[in-house]
Amino acid sequence: MTDSTLPQGLHPETLAVREALPRSQWGEHCEALYMTSSFVQPDCETSARRFAAQEDGYTYSRTGNPTVTSFERRLAAMEGTECAVATSTGMSAILLVALTMLKAGDHVICSLSMFGSTIKLLGTEMARFGVETTFVSQTDISEWKAAIKPNTRLFFAETPTNPLTDLCDIAALAELAHAHGALLAVDNSFATPVLQQPAKLGADIVVHSGTKFLDGQGRTMIGAVCGSIALVDKVMGTFLRSGGLNAAPFNAWTVMKGLETLALRVKAQSAAALELAAWLEAHPKVARVYYPGLKSHSQYELAMRQQNGLGGGVLSFDVVGDTPENLRKNAFHVVDHTQVCSITANLGDVKTTITHPASTSHGRLTEAQRQAAGLGQGLIRISVGLEHLNDIKVDLSRGLDTL
Ligand SMILES: Cc1ncc(COP(=O)(O)O)c(C=O)c1O
Repeated sequence: MTDSTLPQGLHPETLAVREALPRSQWGEHCEALYMTSSFVQPDCETSARRFAAQEDGYTYSRTGNPTVTSFERRLAAMEGTECAVATSTGMSAILLVALTMLKAGDHVICSLSMFGSTIKLLGTEMARFGVETTFVSQTDISEWKAAIKPNTRLFFAETPTNPLTDLCDIAALAELAHAHGALLAVDNSFATPVLQQPAKLGADIVVHSGTKFLDGQGRTMIGAVCGSIALVDKVMGTFLRSGGLNAAPFNAWTVMKGLETLALRVKAQSAAALELAAWLEAHPKVARVYYPGLKSHSQYELAMRQQNGLGGGVLSFDVVGDTPENLRKNAFHVVDHTQVCSITANLGDVKTTITHPASTSHGRLTEAQRQAAGLGQGLIRISVGLEHLNDIKVDLSRGLDTL
């Protein structure tokens, strides 16, 4: 709404703590939290102009709130996009993309190893509205190419994926999508703008679950979509303001505080995750580790090039076992023997979290969908926090060493 008072050309680290609406008349140092559902108008003429969008000025928090605007501006600055709109959750951000970029008769291509709710939303819920979805290999771009149809409008990618940490080559996917008149949307919740800025690699739309690393302290639920003014503000923003998918001011304020420490946290969590991944890889009760920062990861080169040389804070591993029942029992044994890690499906927190994806985040998928995604019963996902890493190793050893 109001022009920034910041000089041009500031670095992302500076924007992460400085970009916001100007201070109020009270000069607050920490950005103000405007907990109000509506805004008092000075007079009817001004009010009419604001409601008609002929003049800047807030009227009602579903259509705009200064705290939410500050968060949107800060995130857009960090992603290097023209603008952002904040949504109530990460899934409502993806819903917003689907409902505004797709209509009955359109076709969308996405990876079969994405986050479970995204697969459900695009593959099942959107089918009721006449949208067709093709699921392809996350890593094999020839499958994306082969799936293109005349009515393909959108590529939806999540990189790295939850929980197997498979990557997509964002620049290559953007080129392919654009060559066929489609848009590319990238879910950047895992990597965050600290590791990669998808818009700079050609993505048209960047989606976030701010519930994860952006907040980073497990306090709030929020989402966002970043991109051009034409697409994100004009098309998605208009829908969001009518449809009421907006973020609450308190949640926007909380996650905005999270953005201030995002780079520090993500770098520290990436370093710890790399060390833990290497330690797990050497453990006799671990069959396989999935982490983009490990040289054994099939897309290590791409990860280093695309993600600022860092692997991120999330890794997964398969425990040893032969049958699906045995694998599940062993995975439960390791998870249940932890005393420090939190057994919870959320991730990106400063507290290390541990989960069994096949019975939690991906529990609603069919066994066939899980198998297609390569997601076995022995898989455990860890989101590495900021505890002393030795404490986490000891915690995991409790279960691994007694298998
Ligand atoms: C990659 C990814 N995208 C989107 C979401 C959905 O976010 P939210 O729970 O904020 O709706 C999640 C949640 O785990 C996720 O991991």
